Amino acid sequence: MLELARKYFKPYRLFLILGPLAKVVEVVFDLLTPLVIAWMIDAGVLQKDISVLQKGTFLLLGFAFAGILFTLVTQKMASITSQGVGTKIRQSLFERVNQLSFLDLDSFGAPTLVTRITNDVNQVQVAVAMLIRQVIRWPILALGAIICALAINLSLGIVFLVCLPIIASVFFFVMKKQVVFFSQMQRRLDCIAQIAREGLSGTRVIRAFCREDYENARFKKASAAQVKSGMGAASLSVILNPATFLVINTSICVILWIGAREVGAGVLQAGQIMAFIGYMNQLLISIAYVANLVIIFTRAEASAKRINEVLDTVPSIDNGVGESVEKQRSLDPQSRALAQEAAQEEARIQETPAQEAALQIVLTPEAPLLSFQDVSFSFPGAQNNALSNISFKLDRGESLGIIGGTGSGKSTLANLVPRMYEATKGDVLFQGANVKTLAQPDLHAKIGFVPQHASLLSGTIRENLVWRDTHAPDEEIWSALEAAQAKDFVEAKEGKLEAEVSVDGKNFSGGQRQRLTVARALVGSPELVILDDAASALDFATDAALRRAIANLPNNPAAILISQRVATVRGADKILVLDKGRAVGYGTHAELVKDCPIYLEICRTQLREEEILA
Ligand SMILES: Nc1ncnc2c1ncn2[C@@H]1O[C@H](COP(=O)(O)OP(=O)(O)OP(=O)(O)O)[C@@H](O)[C@H]1O
Ligand SMILES: [Mg+2]
Repeated sequence: MLELARKYFKPYRLFLILGPLAKVVEVVFDLLTPLVIAWMIDAGVLQKDISVLQKGTFLLLGFAFAGILFTLVTQKMASITSQGVGTKIRQSLFERVNQLSFLDLDSFGAPTLVTRITNDVNQVQVAVAMLIRQVIRWPILALGAIICALAINLSLGIVFLVCLPIIASVFFFVMKKQVVFFSQMQRRLDCIAQIAREGLSGTRVIRAFCREDYENARFKKASAAQVKSGMGAASLSVILNPATFLVINTSICVILWIGAREVGAGVLQAGQIMAFIGYMNQLLISIAYVANLVIIFTRAEASAKRINEVLDTVPSIDNGVGESVEKQRSLDPQSRALAQEAAQEEARIQETPAQEAALQIVLTPEAPLLSFQDVSFSFPGAQNNALSNISFKLDRGESLGIIGGTGSGKSTLANLVPRMYEATKGDVLFQGANVKTLAQPDLHAKIGFVPQHASLLSGTIRENLVWRDTHAPDEEIWSALEAAQAKDFVEAKEGKLEAEVSVDGKNFSGGQRQRLTVARALVGSPELVILDDAASALDFATDAALRRAIANLPNNPAAILISQRVATVRGADKILVLDKGRAVGYGTHAELVKDCPIYLEICRTQLREEEILA
């Protein structure tokens, strides 16, 4: 929490001081109220002096109005600060999530990131509001009540001093136990979010396989676990009320008993006993609120920790600068800060017009467009390499087909090119430069990548197509759509390029979605196009038309076509055959049919004998 405070509280320093100060004024009025009532009883009611009652009433009304005024001021400051801080944290979290590499995202998982951005930020927001509105109020009220009670009568004041630690220990005992349940509840909420997300995004498959009952049972189980934690916390709260009222009522009895004797002896007046009971109630409310605040702050602390985990994650691939920061993970915090500063400085320099020049210096036009040199890659924690010792070259305008069974490493290989993952061994060179030394924006400007599960976002068709070049003219968008075999259905849509795309592109068919994501990759004249299974939902004729169109694009980009279909890759200049992460064949279709048994086997499962050699 302190770490977040250091980062985000600065603009609100004034409110963080003035808000609680306004609250102190309100507390003073609260503390004076029982004294005025005591005076009204003793000097007004008992002495039958109406003027005292009138003055007292005006005073109490004055206190009430002033109290409202100061409360409104504090409330306003608390709202501005908590909403402001919450919005900034949420924004920073979102930005950080967008900077994280695929590996970082895999290690967190989407559901927990969603709960951190929503629920955890809310908890911190509530704590910030409470910090301004309540933190100073209740301890001062409790302290003031004790001082006022002691000032009225010392022996009765001692009842207060005995009562206070008893009530406080009841509250803190309960809270300590509750905190365990609260952190459990937060973890279980993550679990519910995960099941809900999977259930909702996979709803079609779930229904197709009649798995609704299983999913319902899974959700029910997770909810029941959450309820159990909630009930655990609530059942502890149940002890609170009876226990505190027992202590308070016993204390009031003692006050009345001792007080009656003091009144009899003429030391104390009846109104003062009333004031005593008033202070006793204020004390009780204060302790209850302080206990509540401790719960709010404990929850916020747990949330702040989860937020900081994300904010402090150094992206394993720094997409702003061409330098892998994987090694920074092992640095101590000071060196890491220095390294980050240097990286930011470098990024700042690269944002200048020199950026393009810098890129041209490192890239060698004569070098092959893309080359893999003995590249291996393994996912963290995985026993086997997802890719082992892959080497190949791809020149400008050439096409490479990649084929292999499911799980053979095709998508992993594709992800290494735009530096979504970084090779654990060997080098991936783009125009002669190691991709690890290239800034991702520069690299992505040259590569049109259609990942295996490319998605559309809600918005218009145009918004979805201009990701690589936000200023792409209509002409270019339409020719990309034409090459992607998407022109016809976009033209048929009302509004054409401005037609609406709903969340996840659900208002398009699977094949239409794929073609739109291909068009997106083609806008902005890429030098290399990577299509990872991008024709899987297309019929054979459309797939063939798409390949022909890509081969005839005016800027003649190189292409990597990944597929499990022989028909998709057979026309490529070279084909790479993968099996369990290893290259088991590399050559043209005719060469591979002759020399690569695995390729021949794949061909035989898909084509007739005469088609294989046709
Ligand atoms: N995020 C990940 N974390 C851990 N292991 C992964 C991850 N993604 C893929 N793998 C593993 O890496 C291997 C290669 O996966 P990859 O997705 O590259 O296969 P693929 O050839 O594209 O398969 P498909 O044809 O089904 O798309 C598989 O064994 C898979 O289990
Ligand atoms: Mg794949």
